[in-house]
Amino acid sequence: MGSPLLEQVRRNGPVPRHVAIIMDGNGRWARARGRPRYEGHREGMRSVREAIEGAIEAGVEILTLFAFSHENWQRPAREIRALMNLLVRYAREEGPELERQGVQVHAIGEVDGLPPAAARAVADLVERTRAGARLRLVLALNYGARGEIVRAARRLAERVRCEGLDPAAIDEAAFVAELYTAPWPDPDLLIRTSGEHRLSNFLLWQLAYTELYVTPVLWPDFTREDLFQAILDYQRRERRFGRVPV
Ligand code: FPP
Repeated sequence: MGSPLLEQVRRNGPVPRHVAIIMDGNGRWARARGRPRYEGHREGMRSVREAIEGAIEAGVEILTLFAFSHENWQRPAREIRALMNLLVRYAREEGPELERQGVQVHAIGEVDGLPPAAARAVADLVERTRAGARLRLVLALNYGARGEIVRAARRLAERVRCEGLDPAAIDEAAFVAELYTAPWPDPDLLIRTSGEHRLSNFLLWQLAYTELYVTPVLWPDFTREDLFQAILDYQRRERRFGRVPV
């Protein structure tokens, strides 16, 4: 049976081209059930699948997921190990399905700073899904927005020193070209689950004009219907980009 929310999304149009998600609440979901935090993350993998399938059904072009932040290294070693194992499992188990669905996977962040098995699994997933043309799935891994901005500044400084780039020629477009996200337009819609109203060092540059949507739903409970709900909310908004309404 078709989803009435999806029908409505299609009727309303236009759909956000780029949706970004801060997947939050795995720990609270597990704690509420008296289960270890790891189980919340494992259940969160099912929601990743839901978000991808929902994005494809709605016609979203780019889906960016905050999967592991710089700050997450401060978690207990056991939890980090569990998250890395999940990432390896995700890449191996979901790879064939993602390929079949036409999903092209990208990774942003300091992917080389992940444990070797995780970095390899991600590289294999990116390689295996290269031909996907229906949805671009961008996984932010070992990612922090301030670090990304500092990295862009450093790369421009190197170009000034080594390529004779004129500092006066550094404009916003030149800066954007050095961000991890250079190939894609900025997110139109940012969803954060679990009710927190924070950006948590995610895509700080890119979210300048993004519409924000916070849902109390914990990430392991997130379904494609929640994605459709967020898109419907987005479709009701008037985006002005600093201008006055016409
Ligand atoms: C935040 O919940 C979630 C994370 C730090 C990790 C996100 C990982 C997944 C959804 C699973 C794997 C995903 C992929 C793409 C393989 P939290 O632990 O901060 O929850 P809390 O705020 O309730 O403690």
